Amino acid sequence: MTLNLSADQLLTTTRSVRKRLDFDRAVSRDIIQQCLEIAFQAPNGSNLNTWKWVVVDDPGIIEKISGLYNQGTEDFIATLGDAVGENYMGADIPGFQGINDSVEYLRQNLHRAPAILFPLISGRVEQGGVFWQASSYGSILQATWSFFLALRERGMGSAWTTAHLWREKEMAELLGIPYERYTQVGLFPIGYTKGTQFRKAYRKPFDEVVSWNQFSP
Ligand SMILES: Cc1cc2nc3c(=O)[nH]c(=O)nc-3n(C[C@H](O)[C@H](O)[C@H](O)COP(=O)(O)O)c2cc1C
Repeated sequence: MTLNLSADQLLTTTRSVRKRLDFDRAVSRDIIQQCLEIAFQAPNGSNLNTWKWVVVDDPGIIEKISGLYNQGTEDFIATLGDAVGENYMGADIPGFQGINDSVEYLRQNLHRAPAILFPLISGRVEQGGVFWQASSYGSILQATWSFFLALRERGMGSAWTTAHLWREKEMAELLGIPYERYTQVGLFPIGYTKGTQFRKAYRKPFDEVVSWNQFSP
């Protein structure tokens, strides 16, 4: 079953779904494969395909993943005192409390996710300069977002998360990922969504973030 959304509808209503993920409905490996095969059509540097994708659907492993995700979130929260200016969490963002509630909900329910995706890119991104960092992330994040779009078209969803990266090494050990050879870029729970209507989200207005010909502070 696909929703037949227009391209613009798909692009403007694919959200990070947390409270509306259906943790009680199973997800087949077939449909995850379909979405990944679509995602693989995203661009990647020199078409080298130096990516790996680990999909976890074993509830015992998901339970352990959830523990590490929660520890990573605690690590992140402990750094928030250092954030300043526009990086301060919640600075001028309408509905910020709602985001906090959703983040908390996912923390409490991640262990119930039917499946979780870990996209990996080869190499240790932090060891490269900005060219290699951009090329590495650019060769995995676009495909990851395509995966979100493919899920949405099928009445499914995910939430973009990076909190576990504070515990990346421990996650690598849990999943048998060779840490020195692959960088994890996020953790993506997979499920059907409760309902299929999603709205556009708040974003800063065009004039505040776009300038023509010259940078505008
Ligand atoms: C790089 C990045 C990291 C994120 N990390 C987390 C996370 O660790 N946990 C979480 O619950 N949400 C996380 N989010 C989800 C954001 O909170 C969410 O995308 C934002 O509130 C905007 O909502 P939308 O995606 O529905 O438009 C992350 C999103 C991005 C893009």
